[in-house]
Amino acid sequence: MQYEEIINIFWKEYVKTTPSAGKIHELLEAKGERISNDHIAFRTFDHPSINVEQLAKPFLACGYLEKDSYVFEAKKLRAKHYEHPDPKAPKIFISELLLEEFSEELQFLILKKINEIPMGLIETGATIFAGRPWGTISHDTYLRLREESEYAAWMYVYGFCANHFTINVNQLTAIESLQEMNEFLKTNGFPMNVSGGEIKGTPESMLEQSSILADKKAVEFAEGSFEIPSCYYEFARRYEDADGNLFQGFIAKSADKIFESTNAAE
Ligand code: NI
Repeated sequence: MQYEEIINIFWKEYVKTTPSAGKIHELLEAKGERISNDHIAFRTFDHPSINVEQLAKPFLACGYLEKDSYVFEAKKLRAKHYEHPDPKAPKIFISELLLEEFSEELQFLILKKINEIPMGLIETGATIFAGRPWGTISHDTYLRLREESEYAAWMYVYGFCANHFTINVNQLTAIESLQEMNEFLKTNGFPMNVSGGEIKGTPESMLEQSSILADKKAVEFAEGSFEIPSCYYEFARRYEDADGNLFQGFIAKSADKIFESTNAAE
């Protein structure tokens, strides 16, 4: 598969789960913008059959190369990003939750679900395309997981899918800054993630990011249907380094706050 095909598969699923992304896309196109993606992000657990390296396989197979690694201490996550030789290809950012840093109970609840993943998915490297590959989920368990980790609770419900796409703001023509992008979003009624400020990062750190809060989706649990934060749209503006090269990495401190876009409001 070419990378464009893979990205397209994820985009189609993503706009179903995240109607706001489709609307923002249309609004920008109506302004005459041509949208390109800075990166696409995925989540997983550090279990050997589904960790970052396992999920990255379909991307490596179509030419992506491993770049930097990141650690998010407070959220107990590790991540890597991948780049394709074609500069038009979005970067791929995959994070994983470090299960052993959580309670025995959380580990037990998550391992039980990982053990329900069909072997065929794992063996063919297709897990990343699988959505939620385990059986019935319980709302009580979701709430229990959330007490320890919003990330674990989100994974339990949604499994494997694009957690967010990210518009490359540098490529936009009518919108020239992330501030302008945010004003455009707010004018059109999209709620922003304000954790750590509306814009994470600075021109000096060479990457500015913002995001809308995740859409909510009605999810079927054993106990009935509940609205749960799904996925969100992110916006990134990159700056050149001292040598005039556009910075291509990620800033752990900024991403740390962006992860909170899927937090359930109290
Ligand atoms: Ni991101």
